[in-house]
Amino acid sequence: MTNHTNRAVILKQRPQGEIQEGDLTLEERPVRELKEGEVLAKVLWLSLDPYMRPRMNDAKGYMDPIGLDEVVVGESVARIVESRSDDLKVDDLVTCYSGWQEYVVFPANAEMVYKIEPKDNVPLQAYLGVAGMPGRTGYCGLMYVGKPTSGETVVVSAASGPVGTVVGQTARKEGCRTVGVAGGPEKCRYVVEELGFDACVDYKAGNLEADLKAACPDGIDIYFENVGGAVTRAVAPLLNPGARVPICGFVSAYNAEDMGSVETPFHVLKALDPVPEHRFFLVTEWQDKHQEITNILADRVASGELKYRETIAEGLENAPEAFKGMLKGKNFGKQLVHIAD
Ligand SMILES: NC(=O)c1ccc[n+]([C@@H]2O[C@H](COP(=O)([O-])OP(=O)(O)OC[C@H]3O[C@@H](n4cnc5c(N)ncnc54)[C@H](OP(=O)(O)O)[C@@H]3O)[C@@H](O)[C@H]2O)c1
Repeated sequence: MTNHTNRAVILKQRPQGEIQEGDLTLEERPVRELKEGEVLAKVLWLSLDPYMRPRMNDAKGYMDPIGLDEVVVGESVARIVESRSDDLKVDDLVTCYSGWQEYVVFPANAEMVYKIEPKDNVPLQAYLGVAGMPGRTGYCGLMYVGKPTSGETVVVSAASGPVGTVVGQTARKEGCRTVGVAGGPEKCRYVVEELGFDACVDYKAGNLEADLKAACPDGIDIYFENVGGAVTRAVAPLLNPGARVPICGFVSAYNAEDMGSVETPFHVLKALDPVPEHRFFLVTEWQDKHQEITNILADRVASGELKYRETIAEGLENAPEAFKGMLKGKNFGKQLVHIAD
């Protein structure tokens, strides 16, 4: 054992619907001694991402479920504090899949561990948001699955979050008319006034179909799917011939008690005639472009061209509440947990 005390958030029981008291517990866990080739990293920032909720279920999706009594999965920005490897030295900064805990031991050459080369004007936590996994998701899903061309209309849901933010600002840069869908007037105002979208529809305002139609007078050429449910149903009749639908996720269903009985975007889209081009994608399809795309996005952050917001919870003990809130849209921009400096 080392002399570090580690705290971790553990999956104690599988949530039925929304996460309840007792599903996740904060526990002290020992930090073991390093073996040759390993490093000990101290987590500075933890990323909270919607995909973590389906992984708490006992059903195999595109990734394995988290085991009971295991640390909840998650990516973080961490600093190396002990090293028995030449690949990473003390004080190096990395992104890694540490899980929801304060310290983590891993082999320095483990997959999905990336050294951060700090850039001026790019805060470290941006490598978990618009210059990190969600940003690469938005960029790659739009560019390689959506394939935008100038003059097309692109609609993106969860528009004020890190994925939607990057989709919309990238689509604008490609010369597209860009329409967001977001929950509430404050988020919609921000999406238009700060992020520069052409329009943003408040799906909570009670007039979704008509508002979306008015915002897309020439129909929709690309719908970047983040939420599913009522938004997908409103988008469907507006899709133009030749439309593409990159299916990134459908967060409206992530708290469902029975995921198997949920109407997914696939059900809605497959019922259309003609069926629009659509497919689910994973950001890891472009893992070979990890550094290239990260650099593009980090440079845009540094120059001020790529704008974004963050919601920060302070301390690991507040991660579960922040996570529950994010699944209901309480976050405004990238949801992070600040653990240490
Ligand atoms: N395929 C991949 O490789 C990959 C990788 C990363 C992320 N994703 C997916 O990308 C999507 C966005 O992720 P993110 O990290 O950018 O999350 P995010 O936007 O920061 O957070 C989720 C947002 O979803 C919206 N939402 C929640 N419930 C909703 C409902 N019932 N109807 C409509 N919107 C609802 C909320 O925004 P409002 O307040 O605006 O409703 C909430 O803020 C998620 O579906 C996620 O699973 C996929």
